[in-house]
Amino acid sequence: ALSPRYTFVVEETSYKRLCSTKNILTVNGQFPGPTLYARAGDTIIVDVYNKGNRNITLHWHGVKQPRNPWSDGPDYITQCPIQPGARFTQTIILSSEEGTLWWHAHSEWDRATVHGAMVIYPKKGATYPFTKPHAELPIILGEWWKEDIGQLYDETIQSGGDPNNSNAYLINGQPGDLYPCSKSDTFKLTVDYGKTYLLRLINSAVQEIMFFAIANHNVTVVGSDAKYTKPFSTDYVTISPGQTINLLLNADQSPNNYYIAAKAYVASARIPYDNTTTTALLQYNRNSSSTPTSLPYLPSHNDTNASVHFTSKLKSLADKNHPIDVPHNITTHLFFALSINTLPCPTNSCTGPNGARFASSINNISLVDPTIDILQAYYFHVNGAFGTRFPNSPPLLFNFTAQDLPLYLQTPKQGTEVKILEYNSTVEIVFQGTNLLGGDDHPMHLHGFSFYVVGRGLGNFDKDKDPLTYNLVDPPLQNTIAVPINGWTTIRFRASNPGVWFMHCHLDRHMSWGMDVTFIVKNGKGPGEQMLPPPQGMPPC
Ligand code: C2O
Ligand code: CU
Repeated sequence: ALSPRYTFVVEETSYKRLCSTKNILTVNGQFPGPTLYARAGDTIIVDVYNKGNRNITLHWHGVKQPRNPWSDGPDYITQCPIQPGARFTQTIILSSEEGTLWWHAHSEWDRATVHGAMVIYPKKGATYPFTKPHAELPIILGEWWKEDIGQLYDETIQSGGDPNNSNAYLINGQPGDLYPCSKSDTFKLTVDYGKTYLLRLINSAVQEIMFFAIANHNVTVVGSDAKYTKPFSTDYVTISPGQTINLLLNADQSPNNYYIAAKAYVASARIPYDNTTTTALLQYNRNSSSTPTSLPYLPSHNDTNASVHFTSKLKSLADKNHPIDVPHNITTHLFFALSINTLPCPTNSCTGPNGARFASSINNISLVDPTIDILQAYYFHVNGAFGTRFPNSPPLLFNFTAQDLPLYLQTPKQGTEVKILEYNSTVEIVFQGTNLLGGDDHPMHLHGFSFYVVGRGLGNFDKDKDPLTYNLVDPPLQNTIAVPINGWTTIRFRASNPGVWFMHCHLDRHMSWGMDVTFIVKNGKGPGEQMLPPPQGMPPC
């Protein structure tokens, strides 16, 4: 139900999955956590009380938070963590978002279990741009580890190697009946024949882009990242961690039970991938048979073409009632090379490539967390917390997608460098994936904004030819976009939101290895163009 105020108690709760019980960090004892409900343009307050035993922060993924970075959440970027026993009241300011978003922990990898949906209805009296569904519900894809998430994080960072794969993928917190001991841990969606349902699909997985499908049913995509899209019918969906996709499901097949299924899309050949499938059940009321027969078709685990093919079908509605506003005259051109790298092992026992530790970078800078958060340092003019020389393009131009790139390209610089943007500047970023260490897809996420995805391609970006292919007519407005392995993607946005805003790869291993940059958007001069002052009770470092 709609509410202007919520209480979130972060606490350890015991859950049984895959034949064993463990304590996980939850909000209000729920996994996945509680759903927030609001209408477009609402402001909601969440009183957070950390009753757990670790430092934590919470982020409202995809909420632009106009002029209010104070409640945005990434630790050491816009706030210091909420310590055990401490409280923090966060203000979530919605503006043009309408559809589905989600919230999650933004400290280490706590978001594995600390996350939930945000449902944003149209304003009072307004309607969906499609026939009102009979019912609607969030479908959250996730991952389950048998080991403790804090331990998984510590081990991964200390060993410098790849994290262990999760032990199961999840649909609404449940692995489904193909995993051991999971027959009853299967999410069930019950429908009436002849009715239409709105599924608010969210990928909360920590390390994987996912493919999703429902046996015998095509679905109609009607939105992504809290923005409506031109409807299209599809038999499978690709969804990045961080992304949301709204789907209409017509219950128009013979009234049996059907499998809903999801599995990982793993672009990198290097990582030993987990090829298991999570399932849920679509059950027709008054169905005749009880066991679903077959899994839906899902593309094979490394099918980059299938992934890109789905993503490139997303288009803005771009009609009279849903106009778009793509920047045309670009004042700030940025070219960001995204790389997986290595750094010397600090302990002599690293399990990364050639005994080094993994790192990752944007334009050869691998983020090092500051000791006080960047927002506080910026607002209160604390010197020395960060530098302002984030490079606009990689210091070395090389053939980014070539095979066998020389080893010396692998070592990034470490630093806490921000990129400063003038108020209202029009920004274009070309993300270029590189083939260092085999490359990977990178679901890039920007806080504080939605951006238009105007172009994409495989191979090296060609600055003369590729801009001619840009879609400036109906590009989708996203907050997360997967840059395909050995390919590029171009986004545009207007820097009209003064504040401090994090941008990073939403695969948590890449984020923690340093594939991050912080934007500082300066205040404007006019009324209402300045950052809000800090609220009472920001958590101290
Ligand atoms: Cu969904 Cu920076 O996060
Ligand atoms: Cu990445």
